[in-house]
Amino acid sequence: MSLMDKHVVLEKNSILLVLGIIIVIAIGGLVEIVPLFYLKSTIEKVEGVRPYTPLELAGRMIYIREGCYNCHSQMIRPLRDEIERYGHFSLAAESMYDHPFQWGSKRTGPDLARVGAKYSDQWHREHLANPRAVVPDSIMPGYPFLARTDLDYRHIAALVQANRLVGVPYTDEDIANAETDLVAQANPDGKDVKALQDRYAVKSAKGEMISIPVARDFSGDGKVTELTALVAYLQMLGTLVDFKIYDDKANPR
Ligand code: HEC
Repeated sequence: MSLMDKHVVLEKNSILLVLGIIIVIAIGGLVEIVPLFYLKSTIEKVEGVRPYTPLELAGRMIYIREGCYNCHSQMIRPLRDEIERYGHFSLAAESMYDHPFQWGSKRTGPDLARVGAKYSDQWHREHLANPRAVVPDSIMPGYPFLARTDLDYRHIAALVQANRLVGVPYTDEDIANAETDLVAQANPDGKDVKALQDRYAVKSAKGEMISIPVARDFSGDGKVTELTALVAYLQMLGTLVDFKIYDDKANPR
């Protein structure tokens, strides 16, 4: 009996064929999956990435609540047109503390992964209230109510704790100070901003403190509204990793 004749047995018996397929796929799957259990992490560590501050986390919840992801992605793909338009492609580490992640695949509006520090707070406030005020042809809806709605941050410590539960390395101190940290970052006048910054900043390989959270009056009127939190969140997007150091390494002068 040649090999071909043996194969006929499989082809004529559907149950045997299905069993054969299952065995082959199982072997392929194991080869792909088992090595992942032996890797400490599938995400390469990148300098500067830190967990969100309570204010940024609150802003992120508003971003999710309002469905901004229906029109905006937060993932720059490693394709030339995307990099020229939005900046360095997104790294896995940049969304390692995102629960849930906001990569998205729908872009009615532009990608927002690196929108932080691209515009002023004032621009964001006007744009979110009425996009047509700053971009005449915009089809983005306005969110004027955000400026009128006080941020409800009674449960912010629980939110930080919930994020710790799913793996974000918040400390007990971060949780205990969540509420004061939130207010200090939104409205830093006379508040203990340094405590917040010391806790959230990370040390670079050179020993400098980097990714220090920015504390300022994001709403422009000293209030802590939903708009304040959303602007704080947008202004930090994509600002944690300093890509200049990588570019210098690749092209030493
Ligand atoms: C119906 C689709 C849609 C929704 C929903 C939407 N946007 Fe937009 N967004 C756009 C479009 C289109 C643009 C480009 C025109 C403009 O700048 O207004 C844009 C632009 C932006 C920009 C400027 C980006 C840049 O690089 O110029 C920001 C920031 C932004 N949106 C934030 C948000 C936030 C925050 C939300 C949720 C509160 C949101 N958008 C909801 C469609 C949308």
